[in-house]
Amino acid sequence: MRLIIRGASKADETAVIALWRICELVVSHNDPIADFRFARAKENSDVLIGVNSDEEIIGSTMVGHDGHRGRLYYVAVAPVHRSKGIGRAMVRAGEQWLAQRGVAKAQLMIRETNTEVAAFYERIGFKTIPRTVMEKWLRPSN
Ligand SMILES: CC(C)(COP(=O)(O)OP(=O)(O)OC[C@H]1O[C@@H](n2cnc3c(N)ncnc32)[C@H](O)[C@@H]1OP(=O)(O)O)[C@@H](O)C(=O)NCCC(=O)NCCS
Repeated sequence: MRLIIRGASKADETAVIALWRICELVVSHNDPIADFRFARAKENSDVLIGVNSDEEIIGSTMVGHDGHRGRLYYVAVAPVHRSKGIGRAMVRAGEQWLAQRGVAKAQLMIRETNTEVAAFYERIGFKTIPRTVMEKWLRPSN
């Protein structure tokens, strides 16, 4: 299958968010439209999409870095297109995006309700690290 991976454009917003929703990556405390627009607007982040020969957006990875660590978010493959290597290709594209900007390490977080996906990341070279992640909301959460 042909898969072209490129940065998302403004026109891709609706289809990308539909993909995130069908992949159950949208949760109540995150606004996917704000996430999409914020990532695209900044120099240190982007939304990468995988487009097939029918011009369908079937994969995504949102990437960003803080000058030290790289992060992957919204790694998604449309359910009917899974198990064909597209997830691996989307993550690799995110890794390349980060490496091209001099970032040495890619990290991601997995929700505690989605632990089975850890096997996918292990298969493509990630490992679990013993860290405690802490956070503080800087604007009111929903
Ligand atoms: C996780 C996801 C992106 C994987 O996409 P995919 O296109 O099916 O993955 P690939 O076909 O590239 O799989 C790469 C390898 O991981 C393995 N793999 C994929 N999903 C797996 C799973 N759930 N459990 C174990 N192994 C898995 C594949 O068998 C393949 O192994 P191989 O090297 O032996 O061929 C996809 O299932 C998805 O979109 N899930 C919902 C969204 C999600 O949870 N995203 C992650 C948020 S942290």
